[in-house]
Amino acid sequence: MTVPSVEERLGSAADSHRRMWSELLPVGRYDASGGYRRHAWTPADAECRAWFAEQAAARGLAYEVDRNGNQWAWYGDPAGEGAIVTGSHLDSVPDGGAYDGPLGVVSSFAALDALRERGFQPVRPLAITNFVDEEGARFGVACVGSRLTAGVLTRDQAYELRDAAGVRLPDAMEAAGQDPSALGKDTERLSRVAAYVELHVEQGRFLAETPHPVGVASAIWPHGRWRFDFHGEANHAGTTRLQDRRDPMLSYADTVLTAREKAALHGALATFGKVSVEPNGTNAIASLVRGWLDSRAADEATLTALVQEIEAAARERAERDGVRADVVRESYTPVVDFDAPLRDRLAACLGAGTPARRPTTTPAGAPSGHCPILPTGAGHDAGILSAVIPTAMLFVRNPTGVSHSPSEYAGEADCLAGTAALADVLEELVCRP
Ligand code: GLV
Ligand code: MN
Ligand code: MN
Repeated sequence: MTVPSVEERLGSAADSHRRMWSELLPVGRYDASGGYRRHAWTPADAECRAWFAEQAAARGLAYEVDRNGNQWAWYGDPAGEGAIVTGSHLDSVPDGGAYDGPLGVVSSFAALDALRERGFQPVRPLAITNFVDEEGARFGVACVGSRLTAGVLTRDQAYELRDAAGVRLPDAMEAAGQDPSALGKDTERLSRVAAYVELHVEQGRFLAETPHPVGVASAIWPHGRWRFDFHGEANHAGTTRLQDRRDPMLSYADTVLTAREKAALHGALATFGKVSVEPNGTNAIASLVRGWLDSRAADEATLTALVQEIEAAARERAERDGVRADVVRESYTPVVDFDAPLRDRLAACLGAGTPARRPTTTPAGAPSGHCPILPTGAGHDAGILSAVIPTAMLFVRNPTGVSHSPSEYAGEADCLAGTAALADVLEELVCRP
């Protein structure tokens, strides 16, 4: 028996995928870098959201925006029980790539198109979502839409969030035409959801070293964001003797190097990727250097130990520099072990019944029916929602592993294979009684 090709399995949904992909490509693109600036509640985000609403309308799906600003498109009764939800996000990091987020949303609509063409017979509702502000690029906290929905970010905490210009999150929502007054945990909605499945471009090279275009997620490393404020004294760069300075840039620079060294010792990750300096003048010693640490590790004990060591070193160095160091944890996501029965069901569906397992290394010489199961260090809405509903993820091969960068890329054939896999998985989940 010949195995149908991906194009055959997708039918006209392959073209639907290509069309949606090309529609989104210009939205929020920043010409100088070739990357995307689709930050929450900005005009670029509004364009993405309008595109999502158009996709829902074009397919005759019931469209709604929930109390937290997440978008939903329903095939079947939105009030029905036991819904299967798929989707991802449309926002980006500063100068992010085209795939992180949008690939999941486009693939979801295309998978639904394929299922309808196959004449699928769902026994429960299927919804496609765009979770708002997944990257946290504007207000500092990642996965705001799913955190609010899951109740791990409260309305009061969300109301306190501000962007770099001091605009409060609720004001930004209001300016974008979204009422923020009902922000908060959405227990009723979640009670109608049986599972959430998110397809995402892989953000590493696990699959690139295998013959497999698609894998299933096992776990997400615990991770968080910490703000380090180094307060010194502004002074003249040309007249202040070195021994008289209280220069916070020195404390910050030393902390960046220390974070790197300690992360290596722990086999973990620590990144200072964002910094702001006051007054930010070439000929003035800084009065304040504010740097954000993103740190991740395979387990929570390692992550805690690593961040404690970085913080202690920062304080010690600051004291020597006559600088005050304040450290604030801005967000934290514990380790996520995806729902094992759901993960195994997906792996069985995609891997011709191969038993699921959790390799920590590339499965060398894996048989073609095998479906790789891999962990990731990247955060996702599926990870946040796993605290309240069963969730699972599919990863699409990324040949370079590069992500959060304009050069993020996945080949079209792999993207279509991901869509076909998502369609198979959704059919399994929505059509079985
Ligand atoms: C989101 O992509 C994150 O891992 O920070
Ligand atoms: Mn991302
Ligand atoms: Mn993402």
